[in-house]
Amino acid sequence: MPQLLSLSRAARLVGTSRVALQQQIRSGALPSFDGMVAAEDLLRLYPGIRLEEDGGFEQVMQIKAHAFGKRVRERMLPSQEILSQRLFEQSTELTDLRNHLQRYHTMMEALRERIRQHEAQPGMADLGAFLDSQLAEILGQTEAPNALAVMDDMLRVMSAHVTLHPSRHEFFVEGADTLLEAALRAGLAVNYGCSNGNCGLCKARVISGQVQKVRPHDYVLSEAEKNQGYTLLCSHAAVGDLVIEALETSSAGDIPQQQIVARIKAIEALGDDVRLLHLQTPRNNRLRFLAGQSATLVAGETSAQLPIASCPCDDRNLHFHVVRDAKDDFSRQVYEVLAAGDPITVFGPWGDFVLRAESPRPILFVAGEAGFAPIKGLIEHAMSLDSAELLHLYWHASPPTGHYLANLCRSWADALDNFRYTPMAEGWVNDLVECMAKDHADLGAFDIYLAGSGAFVEGATNALAQQGFPAAQLVATTT
Ligand code: FES
Repeated sequence: MPQLLSLSRAARLVGTSRVALQQQIRSGALPSFDGMVAAEDLLRLYPGIRLEEDGGFEQVMQIKAHAFGKRVRERMLPSQEILSQRLFEQSTELTDLRNHLQRYHTMMEALRERIRQHEAQPGMADLGAFLDSQLAEILGQTEAPNALAVMDDMLRVMSAHVTLHPSRHEFFVEGADTLLEAALRAGLAVNYGCSNGNCGLCKARVISGQVQKVRPHDYVLSEAEKNQGYTLLCSHAAVGDLVIEALETSSAGDIPQQQIVARIKAIEALGDDVRLLHLQTPRNNRLRFLAGQSATLVAGETSAQLPIASCPCDDRNLHFHVVRDAKDDFSRQVYEVLAAGDPITVFGPWGDFVLRAESPRPILFVAGEAGFAPIKGLIEHAMSLDSAELLHLYWHASPPTGHYLANLCRSWADALDNFRYTPMAEGWVNDLVECMAKDHADLGAFDIYLAGSGAFVEGATNALAQQGFPAAQLVATTT
């Protein structure tokens, strides 16, 4: 019976993306068994796995660190409690295996003794000699450790693998994350409300595996719910691999409007005329939203509705790109008055410029100037989901705004095989759409997400229509 691995686990072990493995499966290089792959096939395809250096786990973490910054590294180690429980589980498994082996050993010795007692009978001496030679051969063998198996064991201690039902979405729980935090980090829109154990909206049923309470909660599960295996995602972590039945949000309309007082974590210049307004929501009250949506920010007497330039996968951080505008009160506040630590009231989220996560098509992102903000949120979300075969960003921008996060886009392209970046400063939207059609002769095979000024979006929409691009595969927003 081959050792079968889910695509997520296999990708981690060999240090590649799920998308890359899916491509190998499609090309026939990697056999798949009901969505799983065999460890031996994986080893054949990736023979260079070495435990001592650049293990798959570390490579994946590097890609994430490139994509989201160093914050991801902060939480790599599980709590002592979870760590000891996972080690206990593995020790139990190891002890069972040892006992099993011991029983085989005892049986072999008894069998050898029986043969010895009947050696005078025809064939018995030969059978005894065969048994002795086989045992000598097996006991004398010193096999190199199976690199995949050892790495898989290590991975099981560091993180737990979770499968959601009925969607079959998968994610890993790392470090001190709760199940809710880990699911959001993986780009999954699981149902939740308060995120601090009060409302019960994150209730989910454990089908198999064990969870451990890691945060206090006031919400009380009924005895019937407990007996059926219900748990709260925002207060529990996974001890080992889990299968959970949980509700997931599929549309922006499912998300309730919220009001949260966040604090400014930093205001950074992204260029002469764009500032990053980095907010952080309270630990016990994060904003529930889908990547690509907007929020209304209120600072003192001023307010503005801005696209969120980060994704829910980025913990409690909310990013906004504020363009300098002397006629806009909120912009002036950001450039002249506000500072780290100041409160900002956040209302929202608004809008339905969100990723069609279940679409199988590769994705083209098209941003005009600071229309890059909601596009950035969508790209980070798509990266977390790790399911699109290709992500290609076209960013049309010219001074004074410019490509104010060009380095970030280049680092994505460097870190991820399935990400391409094309900056454009000259020409107008017709040139941009022509460039896209030249790069991708099969433009109709893509989903396109488009964000920018009203004129930019209208121009690009018309140019795409002239190319025969299906309107149903275009999602657009004006910023
Ligand atoms: S989100 Fe409210 S109890 Fe978990």
